[in-house]
Amino acid sequence: MIHSIRGFNDIYGKESVIFQKLESLLREILKLWNFKEVRLPILEKTELFQRGIGDDTDIVEKEMYTFYDRNGESLTMRPEGTASVVRFLNEHKLYGSDRYLKFFYIGPMFRYERPQKGRLRQFHQAGIEIFGLPHPLAELEGISVLQYILSRIGITDTTFYINSLGCDLCRPGYKEALFSFFDNKEEHLCEDCKRRKIKNPLRLIDCKSTKCQENLEKAPKITDFLCNNCKNHFDELKNLLFLYNISFEENPKIVRGLDYYNRTVFEVHSKSLGAQSALCAGGRYDRLSKDLGGFDLPAFGWAMGIERLISLITDSSDYSEEIDFFVVIIGESAKKEGLTVIDRLRKAGYSVEYDTFFGSVKSQLRRADKLKAKKTIILGEDEIKRGVFILKDMKEGKEEVVEINKLWKGDFVKWSF
Ligand code: HAM
Repeated sequence: MIHSIRGFNDIYGKESVIFQKLESLLREILKLWNFKEVRLPILEKTELFQRGIGDDTDIVEKEMYTFYDRNGESLTMRPEGTASVVRFLNEHKLYGSDRYLKFFYIGPMFRYERPQKGRLRQFHQAGIEIFGLPHPLAELEGISVLQYILSRIGITDTTFYINSLGCDLCRPGYKEALFSFFDNKEEHLCEDCKRRKIKNPLRLIDCKSTKCQENLEKAPKITDFLCNNCKNHFDELKNLLFLYNISFEENPKIVRGLDYYNRTVFEVHSKSLGAQSALCAGGRYDRLSKDLGGFDLPAFGWAMGIERLISLITDSSDYSEEIDFFVVIIGESAKKEGLTVIDRLRKAGYSVEYDTFFGSVKSQLRRADKLKAKKTIILGEDEIKRGVFILKDMKEGKEEVVEINKLWKGDFVKWSF
């Protein structure tokens, strides 16, 4: 037997129902904030992610599914959505008359990470990206919709960490300070960090190796190096979050594993997720569009891991897959009428199932129970002769005799569940 690829999951049953409901809820809420959906390709040119996410990030260094197509072009299965949205926006020259654009996407992403609980190689993200707004109102817009989404789903066990990474003016000073700090601790660094220390010492802050983590407590903090503009931006953001009653914790260790960020970065963690505790993450990335050869566009966005979100949804009561009707057909002569009834009901908007093997009455009723039918219609030869069917309410157990003609007259549409 051929098995699925490690870290690539099949989503079915309850999880698939929750997935669908989540998607509808996300769409419903994002519409309130006026986000427009964009469905982007899964494959992009490798260069987009190399230049967008950064060559010395974990994602680009070790996690991308990259291959050459039959034409010899290097392609990559998208590891994230932000670089693609920026590519899309510039390619279609959408930034013209409208100076303020908001998009969302929902779809699979691919990273060759070591699979474990909450960490997959194919996972799904829902993300938003806001373009054209240098003011922290962009952050407020994105963070407020995120908080509302989490509250509507009923996820409360979260901590919202924020930090500022400064800008091209103040970050070099911080990088220098970090470099000096780690310079005489070389033997305490993992191999990756020894290399990264020279190219981008910021990467050392979020290195997952325990060896490197030990040094971090005493490392210099970016917030002590912010220039006035970045400091004001960060202060203004915090005031706006207070205004909306959004609680947060400042955390200088949040530097994000992607290179495109400047100023605001944030992560939402939940202890219930275990080791992979990040539920959602994002930040400002004012340079990315220009770096990718496009418009000079300030931007802010986030993405959340759908599988991680689903794993936090414990209330299963809302997610049962009930059907409206099960039609029990007894005897040869009831088949024609039965099949017609089924077709009518389905086209009137009811979910209907029946036993295509036409088993015994007992087994058909058992199936009706198993499929959680709300009502069962029983049609036997006797009922056909009398022009009726038996309608059984499966919850209350009550039965009533209904004229088949009522179906054709459309009276059944009045049945509500
Ligand atoms: P990210 O932190 O790489 O950011 O991913 C965002 C979220 O995707 C994570 O917080 C996590 O919930 C989920 N996630 C990431 N990797 C995996 C995995 N291997 N298995 C399961 N879930 C995973 C980004 O992707 C940025 N593009 C976010 C962003 C949007 N920044 C600005 N705009």
